[in-house]
Amino acid sequence: MTTILTPALTAHWDEPDSFTLAAYRRDGGYRALPKALAMEPDEVIQTLKDSVLRGRGGAGFPTGVKWGFIPQGDGKPHYLVVNADESEPGACKDTPTLLARPQALIEGMVITAYAIRAHLAFIYVRGEVLHVIRRLHHAVAEAREAGFLGRDILRSGFDLEVVVHAGAGAYICGEETALLDSLEGFRGQPRLKPPFPATSGLYACPTVINNVESIATVPWILLHGAGDFASLGTRKSTGFGIFSLSGHVATPGQYEAPLGTTLRALLDLSGGMRAGRRLKFWTPGGSSTPLFTDEHLDVPLDYESVAAAGSMLGTRSLQLFDETTCVVRVVLRWIEFYRHESCGKCTPCREGSYWVVQLMEQLERGEGTEADLDKLLDICANITGRAFCALGDSIEAPVRSSITFFRDEYLDHQRNGGCPFDPAASTLFAMESAR
Ligand SMILES: Cc1cc2nc3c(=O)[nH]c(=O)nc-3n(C[C@H](O)[C@H](O)[C@H](O)COP(=O)(O)O)c2cc1C
Ligand code: SF4
Repeated sequence: MTTILTPALTAHWDEPDSFTLAAYRRDGGYRALPKALAMEPDEVIQTLKDSVLRGRGGAGFPTGVKWGFIPQGDGKPHYLVVNADESEPGACKDTPTLLARPQALIEGMVITAYAIRAHLAFIYVRGEVLHVIRRLHHAVAEAREAGFLGRDILRSGFDLEVVVHAGAGAYICGEETALLDSLEGFRGQPRLKPPFPATSGLYACPTVINNVESIATVPWILLHGAGDFASLGTRKSTGFGIFSLSGHVATPGQYEAPLGTTLRALLDLSGGMRAGRRLKFWTPGGSSTPLFTDEHLDVPLDYESVAAAGSMLGTRSLQLFDETTCVVRVVLRWIEFYRHESCGKCTPCREGSYWVVQLMEQLERGEGTEADLDKLLDICANITGRAFCALGDSIEAPVRSSITFFRDEYLDHQRNGGCPFDPAASTLFAMESAR
């Protein structure tokens, strides 16, 4: 059995009261904050730069560098916005973090706001997760009551208010500029960049937008030091992160481990694939990242190695599928999601996602030809790089990679006059009875 877990954010999730302020303090919470408030704000930014923490929301941009872009002495209000919109198929790390340890996020927010000189911060949380929204409201109230929010925090002279804002349930509102439009009360659609949010963000003022996990990691870095964080993981992908395993795995769930671990090691920890089955394909970073197969079990799960192997680390959402699963069916479900969530602002994504779904449906019914596969790839190529935001590019990743690895399976549908798989065999229900 491999023991590579490094529980930090997830360390106390199994305590029944883990979400309370009392439990967080009992487990050592709010010890990083006085340390940070005793430092100069720029020193805090430098600590984050030294840790080389890379944003955990998908793109992996260095967090300290982002904070350093906020202009100082500009006379404008600065804002911190936490992106808690987590909606990508397979992504499920921020929601449990918010449920189990909301105070880690709030402590991280106070430190971050202090560093970037912001006095108002927002948590933009997806609207469907009502239980999370309630828990966040409760956590903010508890922190405020204890003097960790509000005026003159811990008698440092620093003030911060936190607003919990529920979105209306749109995947595109996780894209940072669409999120800002939504927060301002407009329809959530991406903005043209530049200008970037660091100079012209919320209400056209300097704004830092970070993922929940990025900000919740900040107290650990302040408490243990940038060096300790950077000593974990790989040289360019430092620290630990939450790997979300879902699908046909014996024990799905969140596994917190250093970046650079492998799926083979994580499968060892999670009891392997469901009984008697073998891994067929998987996503290293969610549905918008190119598929991997069992050939990629030993690819180190860090930004550089995953990219070198042809995919993206994304949000570390590892969705695992065994040999009972039809790849065409899975990719079609994801593409239907992207078509539904396309905001319609640009033509390549709005029209392209519609046509990709049409062709994929035809192929799934067994009515598609080899020429249709090439047409599908051609449409995808005309979306990628031409769409206004990264949602458009996400469409190509699963389609192209599935055709690369499973071209014959697409064509088997035509030979078979329909899907050659039994859809019931891949269900969770079948999985239970296989145990
Ligand atoms: C369609 C789309 C959806 C996104 N959804 C999320 C999300 O739910 N949460 C998130 O943190 N980042 C999401 N992102 C990435 C954000 O735009 C942004 O890069 C991230 O919030 C920055 O935080 P980080 O630097 O801490 O990773 C999304 C991007 C796109 C294109
Ligand atoms: S790529 Fe899609 S989601 Fe992004 S702006 Fe264009 S239509 Fe909207």
